[in-house]
Parts: sequence; structure tokens; C-alpha cells
Amino acid sequence: MTIAARLLPWFDSHGRHDLPWQHPRTPYRVWLSEIMLQQTQVSTVTGYFDRFVTALPDLPALAAAPLDDVLALWSGLGYYARARNLHAAAKACVERHGGELPRDIDALVALPGIGRSTAAAILSQAWGDRHAILDGNVKRVLARYHGIEGWPGTPAVERKLWLLAESHTADSTLPDARLPDYTQAQMDLGATLCTRANPTCLLCPLRDDCVAHREGRTAELPTPRPG
Ligand code: ADE
Repeated sequence: MTIAARLLPWFDSHGRHDLPWQHPRTPYRVWLSEIMLQQTQVSTVTGYFDRFVTALPDLPALAAAPLDDVLALWSGLGYYARARNLHAAAKACVERHGGELPRDIDALVALPGIGRSTAAAILSQAWGDRHAILDGNVKRVLARYHGIEGWPGTPAVERKLWLLAESHTADSTLPDARLPDYTQAQMDLGATLCTRANPTCLLCPLRDDCVAHREGRTAELPTPRPG
């Protein structure tokens, strides 16, 4: 069975369906949540997210706000470059994209603070577009599932993982309508079961096909950073 075929039923019963950016799931709200979640866990982000969107409910409001207001709304979350980039990106969207987030991977990656995986997470969750994600959680899941050796920070290993992520996302049994859930399911699996230390393989929907589980190598994979 494909990863999507195993992951989606698991997500339906055990995934996170009540995250504030899922209701309503607009491009602006998804973008904001993905930036907040880059270095901060879900349980911390939710309160900051609600406060932020109450004060600045859409992209034009963010672009028009003074930077100091944006930084004040961010205060407590840390990594303030994220807030500066968010504000600069909102202004760029007003200047270049009619006040909306562009529905295009290259245009998104051209904005400050948005890398390839974040752009893909935005497109797949906000519009259901078919793009593979590869954040730290998904790298760990795929390195274990396929038994990929080598530190994922190495360009050759990262390239291999991107190709695998893309081939799983191209799954013809994965309907377009489920792309938002497929993206969230991968992140939820990595965050809740396929954790770095002591993964809960007993409850994992991918365990039957997971190389690391079969070979008892979950503690060794992914290969740690050398040094
Ligand atoms: N990390 C980055 N994006 C995330 C998301 N949508 N859910 C959980 N963790 C995440």
C-alpha cells in the first residue's frame, strides 16, 4: 500500500483537525501558521496565532501595519527575523501580487522567509495543489521508511529525499481534494509518533513497510549530523 493510502485513514482518526488555521483555511492564515511553526511547536503557536489574526486579519492589514506592531504581536515566539520577513513579504505581495499570496511555487519562494518546503505546505494546504513537502519531520519519516543513510543536511541525501517525497505525492490514488490532509498528516506523524527519540512504532500506520522499524534501526536513522 502507498504511504498516502496508509496515512490518510490514520489522519482521519488520529490527526489534528482542530488547528485554528484549518478553520477557515485561507492562504493568509496557512502562511502565517507555517511561518510560526517553523521553529515553534503547535501547542505554543495556537495562542499567538489567534492573537495575531485578530489584530491583523488579512494580508493587506499586515502590510499596512507598522513593523513595531508586528514585532509586538510576535513577542514571545522568538526568532524575530521571521516576523520581519513576514511583514516584508506582505508588502511585496501588495506591490507585486495585488495584495494576495501568489498561487505559484517560484513566486512564493521569491518572498522573504519562504523556502521550498514552506511554499509547498502553503500551496497544498491552502489550495490543494500537488506539491511535496520536506521539513525536518518528513525527512526523518522518509529516511526511516526507506532506510536512507547519510545526514539529511548533505545535499546528495536531501536530493534523494526530495525525489522520494515527490514520488509519494504523485500517488495516483491520492485525490487532489486530500492534499491538505496528506500534508498535515505527514507533519503530524513526524511530530507525534515518528519522533527523533523513542518513536512509537507500535501505533504507526507505516510500520509494516518501514525499513528502519523492520531492521531495528530507528535509533540510527536518520543519520545524525557528523562531528
Ligand atoms: N510544522 C510546520 N508546519 C506544521 C503544521 N502544519 N502542523 C504541524 N507542525 C508543523
